[in-house]
Amino acid sequence: MDLKLKYEGKRVLVTGAAGFLASHVVDVLVEMGAEVRALDDLSDGRLDNLAESCDRIEFVEKSVVERDGLDDIVAGRDYVFHLAANALVPRSVEDPDHDFDVNVVGTRNVMESVRRTGAGRLVFTSSAAVYGSPAHAEVALRWLEARG
Ligand SMILES: NC(=O)c1ccc[n+]([C@@H]2O[C@H](COP(=O)([O-])OP(=O)(O)OC[C@H]3O[C@@H](n4cnc5c(N)ncnc54)[C@H](O)[C@@H]3O)[C@@H](O)[C@H]2O)c1
Repeated sequence: MDLKLKYEGKRVLVTGAAGFLASHVVDVLVEMGAEVRALDDLSDGRLDNLAESCDRIEFVEKSVVERDGLDDIVAGRDYVFHLAANALVPRSVEDPDHDFDVNVVGTRNVMESVRRTGAGRLVFTSSAAVYGSPAHAEVALRWLEARG
């Protein structure tokens, strides 16, 4: 299916939206005609990253660790792209409690909100580390193709 048709007019939430990866996800979704709500607590991300789409999105400054109010942000979304995270390995070593709060509790909070509100599909970026170290670069691509 044409991706543009898939997301055109859809209501999408992107968490971690002011970060490196998610800000590009936001730009692509906006370009495809999605109605994007962008959430970030701005702990690492920058609003500058959303400059291309800032006048066409709804930005919500909020932490996924705080459950209060999260259901209202998630409810009614056709898709939730969850990229809010501590992606910095050195910080996870220095402050594992913070890492656990954001990456585990925050992810659980988003998942629970999706379940409770009956929002649509949750898309989780996870980490490239889950692929392991492939002997050949095309292994990850084949894995994705096999999943359809
Ligand atoms: N960068 C890569 O190459 C790569 C590859 C595969 C997967 N990933 C995964 O994608 C996700 C995003 O990675 P990234 O490189 O864009 O990181 P990033 O640090 O640029 O973005 C993460 C965003 O999450 C926000 N954030 C942090 N804590 C938050 C909280 N409690 N509530 C709301 N927002 C919060 C930060 O402010 C930041 O904008 C991570 O889970 C990472 O593991 C990244």
